Amino acid sequence: MNPYQIESLEQYFQVYNESVQNPEQFWGQLARDNFQWHKTWDRVLDWDFHKPEVKWFDGAQLNITENCIDRHLKNRAHKTAILFEPNNPKEPAQHITYKQLSEKVNRMANVLKEQNVQKGDRVCIYMPMIPELAVAVLACARIGAVHSVVFGGFSATALATRINDCDCKIVLTADGGFRGSKTISLKAIVDEALHDCPGVRKVLVCKRTQEQVVMQAGRDAWLEPLLEAANSDCPATIMEAEDPLFILYTSGSTGQPKGMVHSTAGYMVYTAYTFKNIFQYKEEDVYWCTADIGWITGHSYIVYGPLANGATTVMFEGVPSYPDFGRFWEIVEKHKVNQFYTAPTAIRALAKEKLEYVTKYDLSSLKVLGTVGEPINEEAWHWYDTHVGKHKSPIVDTWWQTETGGIMISPIPYCTPTTPTFATLPFIGIQPALRDAEGQEVFGKNVQGRLCIKFPWPSIARTIWGNHERYRETYFSTFPGNYFTGDGALRDSVGYYRITGRVDDVIIVSGHNLGTAPIEDAINEHPKVAESAIVGFPHDIKGNALYGFIILKEQASAEEQKALKAEINQQIALQIGPIAKLDKMQFVIGLPKTRSGKIMRRILRKITVGATDELGDTSTLLNPEVVDSIIEGAV
Ligand code: WTA
Repeated sequence: MNPYQIESLEQYFQVYNESVQNPEQFWGQLARDNFQWHKTWDRVLDWDFHKPEVKWFDGAQLNITENCIDRHLKNRAHKTAILFEPNNPKEPAQHITYKQLSEKVNRMANVLKEQNVQKGDRVCIYMPMIPELAVAVLACARIGAVHSVVFGGFSATALATRINDCDCKIVLTADGGFRGSKTISLKAIVDEALHDCPGVRKVLVCKRTQEQVVMQAGRDAWLEPLLEAANSDCPATIMEAEDPLFILYTSGSTGQPKGMVHSTAGYMVYTAYTFKNIFQYKEEDVYWCTADIGWITGHSYIVYGPLANGATTVMFEGVPSYPDFGRFWEIVEKHKVNQFYTAPTAIRALAKEKLEYVTKYDLSSLKVLGTVGEPINEEAWHWYDTHVGKHKSPIVDTWWQTETGGIMISPIPYCTPTTPTFATLPFIGIQPALRDAEGQEVFGKNVQGRLCIKFPWPSIARTIWGNHERYRETYFSTFPGNYFTGDGALRDSVGYYRITGRVDDVIIVSGHNLGTAPIEDAINEHPKVAESAIVGFPHDIKGNALYGFIILKEQASAEEQKALKAEINQQIALQIGPIAKLDKMQFVIGLPKTRSGKIMRRILRKITVGATDELGDTSTLLNPEVVDSIIEGAV
């Protein structure tokens, strides 16, 4: 029996039991048998969730790009590694083989070296979904530089915050990016961001949209000529298992975004292993994850997980609605995609359109469908199952987080029977626990609680960049001894998990995590705003949308209010990005607060859905009188 490839439910239970009874033995064997090391570890695992500290494969040496690229050159040199599908369907797709990928990555790595980028330096990558983005990520890994990819939809302010937080000296970007009928002027956004980033000394710019950009002498350079001139051989830097591989920012419920730090060996082993099993990838398959590499899903399941398995991974530049709502299915037919992984928000948007957009394409190549990023509602699940999977492709509802690095709870297709809206069973090695508000573990079946993980897994983020105390406080202080996910979940009569959503002040809008605090900060910066509170409310397509309750410093006429709403959304788009704009705004005279001054978002949430009979006792509030007026003005 090969534990690297799980092929039945029985085998899953057997391997699962082994992995929790004897984790060091299990992961050690798996890592030894399936990856290339320059030196193996002194110890498989060292951990203490109280400190907190986690080390996997400590003492081992490796380079992840040798595992993702070089080792495939023997048997897969001419196999497509990255299949690039451009935004415009008339532009030909690019099939980049492992050999070609190797050359590209080596050249890019040499370009970085020429710019004096060294092991441990942070490199900011702000690029559209073009092959150069994946190449840049891998080039950093090749030389041991720590990549920090910032999603191309983030604004200049958000980009500047992320560049400064981890002190990047160099930014890789493109002139612009295509997204549907729009172009995004990435270089111009970088220019704006860099006004506030004195540490950046170099910007390398890749050509994509051919739009006019301003190149600052001495600082900015075009990438293409540098790549052409660079040597196509760059020896991989030998990394320690626990050396940081990348930083990726995620929203917290308060304050600055958190730069989650992932390290090398554990991340590699876990993303590769989950990819192989959760998508049941077979050698000839074409796998497609529609995420952006700017998010963790793209890091783990477009780049590292698939490439570590020698897979063909599709990279799509565009959006599901361009040139029409059939675009995803057209691509599935064109490239005979076997595994398709997307977000519930995309499914809901497509399910609203005419069925013809799906039925006109041949989707018979599909074997596995996946979803990630937020709970999938039953209706969307059935639409996906019926119209895309034709009831023959199992749906893997994969629950995980930026912090977990890889998929944590998910069916294994063709092994685990699926149930709509349930992420089902923990993956190999994952030990979930549900806890009640007092911190007691809730055992047994048909129970609910806060979802925690009791034991480390190889790809857990090791810290928050520059702020280990925040890492401890955020994830390990609520339930001492456990990692707390911030999600609620229930466990049903067969032991399946269903994720019920966030229990903190993070709101997931169209699959993007948004913290309330940074949005409120952006609103409060408007000179006419005194205070604000954001809550999520259910939205047909986005899952959740944002509702802002805003106190103005002075009364405003209806006309002025209209203008203010537009200005406030503009302010949010500038500070964070268009994804954080509010769907609804209400100007209020006050916000319901506890006696200690904390905003009672629970009350606001009830008001947004009209559940005013469920407000509970409001008399203990500091200012109960505001509640009625908020209810009256609700939009
Ligand atoms: C939510 C994305 C329900 C959850 C990989 C989690 C989900 C947050 C699911 C992490 C799912 C992710 N079912 N909820 N299958 N997958 N979530 O960091 O609230 O962008 O905590 O990572 O998304 O979002 P993140």
